[in-house]
Amino acid sequence: MTYKTIIAEIDETIGLITLNRPQVLNALSNQLGGELTQALSDFENNHALGAIVITGNEKAFAAGADIAEMKDQSYIDAYQGGATCNLEDALSKCRKPVIAAVSGYALGGGCELAMMCDFIIASESAKFGQPEINLGILPGWGGTQRLTRLIGKSKAMDMCLTGRMMDAAEAERCGLVSRVVEKDKFMDQVISIAKLVASKSLPALMMNKECINQAMETSLHDGLLFERRQFQAAFATADQKEGMAAFVEKRKPHWMHR
Ligand code: COA
Repeated sequence: MTYKTIIAEIDETIGLITLNRPQVLNALSNQLGGELTQALSDFENNHALGAIVITGNEKAFAAGADIAEMKDQSYIDAYQGGATCNLEDALSKCRKPVIAAVSGYALGGGCELAMMCDFIIASESAKFGQPEINLGILPGWGGTQRLTRLIGKSKAMDMCLTGRMMDAAEAERCGLVSRVVEKDKFMDQVISIAKLVASKSLPALMMNKECINQAMETSLHDGLLFERRQFQAAFATADQKEGMAAFVEKRKPHWMHR
């Protein structure tokens, strides 16, 4: 499928989505939201793929929602929502691992989009922020909620109330990103990490993802019970039999993804 605001490509076992509005630092327009939702759904339904990467370009992952498109919006426009609301639903329902690969600016909706993904890999050049305060508004796509869960109340308050940017080193220190990669090797490293993820058993990936997401939503007691049931269910998969047999026989597992 051809898109106007993103590039969607398949690289062996991974789906790679590149946000592609460089003239506006990949500002997230409604059209981009719709195209990204469609590409995610296509990759989710493609059985040959084990992981999805969302990235931008060297200067910007995304510098936020498209301010020019949004500035005259009324309450009812905002309430009825656009493609960006569907995108949030699509990402939260996506059962395959989704990695955000962030170079340059990830601001406002860009930071929120990255946080909707399962984990964030940052280039040394990455800059994160929720600068909505400078526009007289607040983050409205999960920024106050996901950022607070990821980096804690004090730092989330600092970021949202000052509107300042955080560099990659600080983002790694406070747990917003999982790792920082050298600028020159960035996409090569991201692709090899995504292919490593995609090389695992898909049901095991999905079970891990579901349990970790549950930890963000529930009490420790309920989360532990949820995890225990998933762990027990894993013994009903062919991949559990194969993974453990391969270990005992000192060979590589051949996943059935069942
Ligand atoms: N929405 C729409 N257009 C945007 C945008 C956004 N969120 N962010 C950047 N752009 C556009 C600029 O208007 C500019 O367009 P122009 O060339 O037609 O003037 C182009 O992208 C390049 O941006 P510019 O501001 O000239 O680049 P810079 O390197 O000087 O500054 C930023 C980079 C990220 C600091 C600055 O663009 C910025 O503050 N962007 C807005 C960030 C924001 O508030 N995001 C939250 C939105 S809710």
